[in-house]
Amino acid sequence: MCKVDVSGIASGRKEAVAMCRPAVGRRDRHQCVLFAFSLVLWKTSFYFLFLILPGEPEFKYIGNMHGNEAVGRELLIFLAQYLCNEYQKGNETVVNLIHNTRIHIMPSLNPDGFEKAASQPGELKDWFVGRSNAQGIDLNRNFPDLDRIVYVNEKEGGPNNHLLKNLKKIVDQNAKLAPETKAVIHWIMDIPFVLSANLHGGDLVANYPYNETRSGSAHEYSSCPDDAIFQSVARAYSSFNPVMSDPNRPPCRKNDDDSSFVEGTTNGGAWYSVPGGMQDFNYLSSNCFEITVELSCEKFPPEETLKSYWKDNKNSLISYLEQIHRGVKGFVRDLQGNPIANATISVEGIDHDVTSAKDGDYWRLLVPGNYKLMASAPSYLAITKR
Ligand SMILES: *[C@@H]1O[C@H](CO)[C@@H](O)[C@H](O)[C@H]1NC(C)=O
Ligand SMILES: *[C@@H]1O[C@H](CO)[C@@H](O)[C@H](O)[C@H]1NC(C)=O
Ligand SMILES: *[C@@H]1O[C@H](CO)[C@@H](O)[C@H](O)[C@H]1NC(C)=O
Ligand SMILES: [Zn+2]
Repeated sequence: MCKVDVSGIASGRKEAVAMCRPAVGRRDRHQCVLFAFSLVLWKTSFYFLFLILPGEPEFKYIGNMHGNEAVGRELLIFLAQYLCNEYQKGNETVVNLIHNTRIHIMPSLNPDGFEKAASQPGELKDWFVGRSNAQGIDLNRNFPDLDRIVYVNEKEGGPNNHLLKNLKKIVDQNAKLAPETKAVIHWIMDIPFVLSANLHGGDLVANYPYNETRSGSAHEYSSCPDDAIFQSVARAYSSFNPVMSDPNRPPCRKNDDDSSFVEGTTNGGAWYSVPGGMQDFNYLSSNCFEITVELSCEKFPPEETLKSYWKDNKNSLISYLEQIHRGVKGFVRDLQGNPIANATISVEGIDHDVTSAKDGDYWRLLVPGNYKLMASAPSYLAITKR
């Protein structure tokens, strides 16, 4: 039985709202199929109702980081309900997805901003009111700017991944970081996420790293080492959304520059450079590959339009989730079969490593092709591919 109680979010309450029951009839009795939660300002309370099953990749959707961008928040609530309903009906696609993936859904990263935006009288909302958190901080400009570090390292030598290893303390002591930002950083560092999307509004496009240009210029295609798979997963989102992928769609606003958009996707830097975003932070500090999806021209559209946004995005949200099962996955073990955590898995020709998780399990998203993978750890080890 899978049940998600999202009433708290829907009614605007601020408690975390996750409820999930173990799936009945599964071999592994414990598996909780889904959980949703909300981040509460000042007192972050998360409900985690699941046990770790080695080999299952972790996925996250985050919505409403800009409090006035409401569509993502609503879609994620619909998605949680949809996954549960279809699971109960025995829909094979959804059952498989849930049995093989740990899905984390955070409908609102900025509930205070949302309330500020929502409390404006009338249907017409200001373009900026509620964007920031209660302290006035724009959360998507508040992450440590790892792009700059990587661009320096590209020239002078130095790592281009897992840049904040063991730096949790420094993050905690950084007075410039909002409590929401700190909480998400901890979340990113504690859970071996593989794939993620960050849902925004104000335009219609699936945006992939890097978001910051190398030269500092306003527009410049800024590819990361995993450009191929990022283009592919961004397309896996946009291609199922008939409005986003429509090549003849006029720009959201007359003067918008959409020239970098290709089939509803864009490289971040090619569109416009944004330092301090969450997307690149994920890629540069952890194993997690994240894209940013802009869902709607309007940031806070009237309630009656939500159904049609759901209709346009339902298949995209599922399709994007399924991307987590692409590429290579397996376990890193020593000769005795003991798992090796924190082993480095590198792919020849792609200058970006991932690391193995606690049980030695790893996931490496890749487009189809022939690859040479290498795992390295202090002691001798063997890789078992599945
Ligand atoms: C099962 O779920 C998938 C994914 O959302 C959907 O495409 C499909 O239409 C559903 N199948 C049925 C029979 O409803
Ligand atoms: C990435 O940049 C786009 C514009 O290029 C912006 O809309 C988006 O919010 C940024 N996202 C992140 C996570 O930095
Ligand atoms: C792996 O790395 C993390 C963080 O760097 C550390 O906390 C953990 O103890 C390491 N695990 C092992 C088995 O080395
Ligand atoms: Zn936004």
